[in-house]
Amino acid sequence: MSTRAESQKMLERACQSLAGGVSSNVRAGKIPPPLFFVRGHGSRIYDVDGNSYIDYVLGQGPLILGHSPAPVLEAVREALDQGQLYAGQFETEILVSEKLKTLIPCAELVRYSNSGSEIVQAALRVARAYTGREKIIKFEGHYHGWFDNVLISVHPPLDSVGPYEAPTPVPGTLGQARSALSDVIVLPWNNLELLEHTVERHADEIAAVILEPIMCNTGCILPKVGYLERVRELCRQHGIVLIFDEIITGFRVGLGGAQQYFGVTPDLAVFGKAMAGGFPISCLAGKRELMELIATGRVNHSGTFNSNVMVMAASWATLQALEDGRVYEHLYRLGRRLMAGLQEIMNRAGVQAQLSGLGPMFHLAFDDGEPIYDYRSFALHNDMGKGQRFADLLLDHGVRFIPRGMWYLSAAHTDEDVDRTLEAAEAALRRL
Ligand SMILES: Cc1ncc(COP(=O)(O)O)c(C=O)c1O
Repeated sequence: MSTRAESQKMLERACQSLAGGVSSNVRAGKIPPPLFFVRGHGSRIYDVDGNSYIDYVLGQGPLILGHSPAPVLEAVREALDQGQLYAGQFETEILVSEKLKTLIPCAELVRYSNSGSEIVQAALRVARAYTGREKIIKFEGHYHGWFDNVLISVHPPLDSVGPYEAPTPVPGTLGQARSALSDVIVLPWNNLELLEHTVERHADEIAAVILEPIMCNTGCILPKVGYLERVRELCRQHGIVLIFDEIITGFRVGLGGAQQYFGVTPDLAVFGKAMAGGFPISCLAGKRELMELIATGRVNHSGTFNSNVMVMAASWATLQALEDGRVYEHLYRLGRRLMAGLQEIMNRAGVQAQLSGLGPMFHLAFDDGEPIYDYRSFALHNDMGKGQRFADLLLDHGVRFIPRGMWYLSAAHTDEDVDRTLEAAEAALRRL
């Protein structure tokens, strides 16, 4: 059994100078409490107490090649010998952009920022400029970053959500501008009838529909068959810009993202996380007609650190590594093996649980056997507390996954890691 004494001490010390002891609210929590790490290598991460964990958190998704992947770190080291930030152009950004055009169906032109939250803002701005309309449709349970105009109805308390047919936009934090709520129409995910109805009534006010093509931030719930196709068609019919938020699905479900996986091409899409193997980059990709608004300077997109030497070198090296098709074959095979193994263990122990997702990323829910297809059904039928306790126990057995239930696989994970994880899961489950 592991000890967490040093992490606990460091957390207490950190809290004296760093708000909450963490640099992102996502890293805070009571069960399990935040840990302090010293090193990551391959599929493993090591904490200050000398514990090692098979890591399925993977930096919340970006580490698709695992911790410290040699080709990426070498490319970054080499690039940094040439400087770190030019506030000017250089060839690697052309190489990456040319590559993205060949990989991503909607990518006729691209632009870069540093984080997912920022680049979502660029997408919304382009959509508003292009359509001359103000309102955005977003779905309950979908996360598009922490800014005021999108941190709405992500994980709202069920007693605040309003009627199913017309959800109340629920702010996600204190301090959020009230005005940010007025331009957002919130709808339930995976319900075409309500979307059709809303779009038909408000078409000339709606600039964009933004969605996670797989609802990775809530249960990793897949779109119903034909859902994305019909959303695509509706947007086209009504001159609404369709934005896929592929910050998680991009470079994870395949090189062309979820749009390639499902064969549905949006007008704009945003990427981040796995795109540079753990270095901070994000990307807006879109149809030329829309992206021309940025190209001509009519829509402002700026940023001091955009496309710096380090992230471009990391992205170029990561894309080259991912182009070896064996990475995805590996992620799907291993991920599905782990999903099936976990399900079997739960079944054997008589514990009701549900695994959802594609394999390269998936979600474990301690559910009650009722169907889960959107935010409300997820919130109602998934025992979040049990999931957190399981995550806490599994840490004691050397396995780390995201306490809200998400697991990410990397090219560095092995069959042996999966074997050990399943043994650990069985032991942790006995203590749950
Ligand atoms: C789907 C999605 N969009 C946007 C974001 C925001 O990205 P970032 O945390 O890089 O700002 C995230 C982050 O998890 C995300 O999952």
